[in-house]
Amino acid sequence: MPPLPAGCRETADDFRLIRFPHSQRGLDTAVKVLLIGDIVGKPGKKLVLRALRELRMREQIDLVVANAENAAGGSGLTPKIYRELIAAGVDCITMGDHIYRRREIDEVLQTEPNIVKPANFPDQAPGRNWTTVTAANGREVAVFSLLGRLFMRPVDCPWTRADQVLKEIPDDVPIRLLDFHAEATSEKQLMGRYLDGRVSAVLGTHTHVATADETILPGGTAFQSDVGMTGPFYSIIGRDIQRVTYTTLTFRPTFFQVAKEDVRIGATLVEIDPETGRATGIRRIVVRQSEVEAFEQAESTPALTSPKQDAV
Ligand SMILES: [Fe+2]
Ligand SMILES: [Fe+2]
Repeated sequence: MPPLPAGCRETADDFRLIRFPHSQRGLDTAVKVLLIGDIVGKPGKKLVLRALRELRMREQIDLVVANAENAAGGSGLTPKIYRELIAAGVDCITMGDHIYRRREIDEVLQTEPNIVKPANFPDQAPGRNWTTVTAANGREVAVFSLLGRLFMRPVDCPWTRADQVLKEIPDDVPIRLLDFHAEATSEKQLMGRYLDGRVSAVLGTHTHVATADETILPGGTAFQSDVGMTGPFYSIIGRDIQRVTYTTLTFRPTFFQVAKEDVRIGATLVEIDPETGRATGIRRIVVRQSEVEAFEQAESTPALTSPKQDAV
């Protein structure tokens, strides 16, 4: 078989890191930042709690950002789930249009330094517009999110608000990550191009469906229209298929329960040069529940040793 052109994949599962020669410093100095896509309900949260420690080690991840707008029963976030995610190894949390579904999260948004609201929400809305968090290798990383305007609720202009946030972030923090929470791929692509060279990554969330367009733009910004969902894939974007079908066919309202089966983590890993803030690699990551179960089983099985061999 002839070799594939550069950048092509041999199989759907062969998610090799796309590398671009922006950095001359070598990959060992790069900062690895993971964005976990919208965590949906208890199934999504539980898999993150079970898998993140191993995933961090396996991929040598320096910083984990997670979108948790759907973590509480499929909509919103509670202080308890916030604390569980942070304890499991999430360093920073972004949200989206469901941010205020649980009122009790307001205090967390106002007091905790590692969670942000969409920066183009009104100034009176609880939460900070951007934050900085320290990666495992000591590097500071600025994180902010914005809501799109196409097919979304009316919000302030994401473009001018992005400019404003970037002015506020200190110049000595070149690593900057934007979670662009939006519906339309066209709007997301435009944000990637608009901020190319000014942020390390523009990664989309909200649709719960990962796109296969991960790339590094000419200015050094890693881009993907949508990172996808962390939750049950046997579903309609995380919700029970029968419930959604019933309401769609009959127009009768029903509560869309979070589905349960085929739970996966959908995430994207970005490698960033810490001196320039430019991305040097981007890769989609999917972790299936079955993988986590296999790992847990292997970890709980004691290693077999032979006393005779040891004696020799
Ligand atoms: Fe959303
Ligand atoms: Fe969502």
